[in-house]
Amino acid sequence: MKGFTSLLILLLLIPAGAGTFIWSGIYDVSANIPRYGISDWLIATLKKNSIAFHARGIAPPAGLTDPESIRNGIVDFSNSCSRCHGAPGETRQAFSTGLHPTPPILVSGRVQKERTEAQLYLIVKNGLKFSGMPAFGNIHEDLNIWNIIAVLKILPKLSSGDYQSILEEDGTDEGDTLRDEEFPGIPDAIDSRMKPNTI
Ligand code: HEC
Repeated sequence: MKGFTSLLILLLLIPAGAGTFIWSGIYDVSANIPRYGISDWLIATLKKNSIAFHARGIAPPAGLTDPESIRNGIVDFSNSCSRCHGAPGETRQAFSTGLHPTPPILVSGRVQKERTEAQLYLIVKNGLKFSGMPAFGNIHEDLNIWNIIAVLKILPKLSSGDYQSILEEDGTDEGDTLRDEEFPGIPDAIDSRMKPNTI
């Protein structure tokens, strides 16, 4: 009976302790403090298994390595990804070092070795919770995302000269962003997903 009472007290103390911790505000949510210890392990494990689970059954479309797909993907990569992840001959912009976890440098090829094409597609389409990796599925058609995945696969071998000449041919300037007229549905799509700011 004594053992049972102790167990009951323990079971009540755990949620009470967790509740006090959450309500007290002691935990620091600042983006400039890296995640450590158990929270880092928990999120990393959750991320790895969740990506593997949800990417089951996703298959890349045919023709992903067409020069046209690659060209379109490079322009999109430059507009949407390079500021945080760098590009051939370009470093990440300084603000990205204020993100924790810090965006990986995708020209190194490490991420591409660890992830399948389906997993990369899922990450870019849906983004990643608990990090600064945005979801691009609300402003990109599926095919545009696959074009970016095609570029990710060749990125480690792409010379900065080839990368820049494709951007120059397209007339893409540094600082170009997605334009509303190219994606007429964006403002409505975004509006309907936005919740009023309650803070
Ligand atoms: C605002 C900054 C930002 C932008 C823009 C951005 N990312 Fe990320 N990305 C991140 C961060 C931060 C992480 C690290 C997430 C993590 O480790 O949990 C990340 C992680 C990733 C990963 C690796 C995920 C993993 O753990 O395997 C891939 C792949 C990726 N991004 C691709 C892209 C692509 C492609 C684009 C453009 C379409 C893009 N990102 C745009 C911030 C960004």
